[in-house]
Amino acid sequence: MPRFLLNNTAIETDLADGMVLLDFLRQEQQLIGTRAACREGDCGSCLVLCGELNQDIMQYRPVTSCLLPLGIINGRHIVTIEGINVDTLNPIQQALVEQGGIQCGFCTPGLVMAITTFFLTASSSTESLAIDAVSGNLCRCTGYAGIRRALAVLCRQFDLGSSKPENRINDLIEWQILPSWFGDISHCLAELSEAGENTIPSMIDQQIKVAGGTDLWVQKAQQLVHQNLDFIDSDEAIELTQQNCTINAATRIETLRLSPLMQQHFRQIEDDFKLICSMPVRQQATVGGNIVNASPIGDLSVFFLALDATLVLKSGKQQRSLPLRHFFKGYKQVDLQVDEELVGIRFFCPDTPLNFSFEKVSKRTYLDIASVNSAMLIELQDDCIKTIHISAGGVAATPLYLQQTCQFLQAKKVTADLIKQALDIAQTEISPIADIRGSIDYKRLLLKQLLIAHFLKLLPDLLCWEDLR
Ligand SMILES: Cc1cc2nc3c(=O)[nH]c(=O)nc-3n(C[C@H](O)[C@H](O)[C@H](O)COP(=O)(O)OP(=O)(O)OC[C@H]3O[C@@H](n4cnc5c(N)ncnc54)[C@H](O)[C@@H]3O)c2cc1C
Ligand code: FES
Ligand code: FES
Repeated sequence: MPRFLLNNTAIETDLADGMVLLDFLRQEQQLIGTRAACREGDCGSCLVLCGELNQDIMQYRPVTSCLLPLGIINGRHIVTIEGINVDTLNPIQQALVEQGGIQCGFCTPGLVMAITTFFLTASSSTESLAIDAVSGNLCRCTGYAGIRRALAVLCRQFDLGSSKPENRINDLIEWQILPSWFGDISHCLAELSEAGENTIPSMIDQQIKVAGGTDLWVQKAQQLVHQNLDFIDSDEAIELTQQNCTINAATRIETLRLSPLMQQHFRQIEDDFKLICSMPVRQQATVGGNIVNASPIGDLSVFFLALDATLVLKSGKQQRSLPLRHFFKGYKQVDLQVDEELVGIRFFCPDTPLNFSFEKVSKRTYLDIASVNSAMLIELQDDCIKTIHISAGGVAATPLYLQQTCQFLQAKKVTADLIKQALDIAQTEISPIADIRGSIDYKRLLLKQLLIAHFLKLLPDLLCWEDLR
């Protein structure tokens, strides 16, 4: 039975775990400030805050309530626009009004919640960080200039650099960005957790595993309301021991993007992962969910294939390891038993940054899935290739590890001719189909260009564009 705090009220409901929060808010609570539009995580109209206690500090994320089943928010604090509304406009609302950031107002509640999350989480009042925070919010009227002006005004008005994480909620109350009841919320949430056990999933067969729910609720929201759901433990962890990095499958994509450990080894990850989903979806979607959904263009699958990662799969007390490159069996088919759970992703990670490249081409640069994506890891020894792993998405029924291309390149001295031959071999390994994202020839050309981009980026002293085209 889902139990959570909604604004400053404790909620316990016997409605189905699979009902999405958006419907609960609008239909059951008449909190209609949270808007329903795309219902696919694309527009941000339905954005609310989801908070949880972490070492006595409340931590908030923006989440798209249209893709968030009630079962996931057990024990969490949900904040809607009604929760932060007071008698007068708060500074965020005021700035949007004064700077022309509102026209019809449909997107405004979601936008206000996204900016509120920026204030709750950002380390400094930097305009570019504020813009990133609203990157998942589409506005159909204002043309965004007014919204940007409002963000600039707010960043000048409030100095987040002077507000420590442990004092942040109190500072926001003082700045009148949050109402005063927020001051007690950590106690209320702790009391709620103590008041009873969370739902224990029943052991009926055919349970559907739910991680972030962002794929499941786009695919079959209505069916899921009546199904038996098994909510995966939301523990996130990224650990490095003896040059082995292990990522808990429940780690969210945004956590991976911002992880200091990952940033240390993948110098571009913070920017590269901005190309994956929108910020609120990255805050909810897990690495495991991205891999198991087996999309041929899954960005995380492509990323980890180029690390030649190994999956850790668990069923009861049984555990097995499986190279990711053997996991995908056919379109949306994976080597996973009914009762098995993906618990971790492991890859070799030396002490130095990896010579790694991730590339993605989509119709729109941001907020779009790939037409073709690819990644490459290459390490040389005396100009010869010591390690090479290359992946490709959008060019077959599954994400691909380019086995023959890698085998051909292994242990060879790098020359432009060698790379050109490798590009030809890569073409023999793929079988793209024509669809809305491009013709067969276009996708073949895209992959060739992405592979050239990897080589030029990773081996700038040995190769140049003129020799490879
Ligand atoms: C608006 C939007 C934009 C997106 N853009 C991109 C994009 O640019 N690039 C991209 O790659 N993806 C994109 N996606 C897809 C997104 O990345 C996936 O929906 C997400 O990663 C799935 O993770 P989840 O935790 O939400 O999975 P869920 O929806 O919870 O689950 C997905 C599937 O995996 C299974 N599953 C989940 N975790 C496990 C586990 N640990 N063990 C066994 N089975 C499991 C579930 O049963 C289900 O079948 C987008 C999605 C949305 C909604
Ligand atoms: S309604 Fe568009 S993201 Fe939820
Ligand atoms: S003001 Fe109309 S959609 Fe943004």
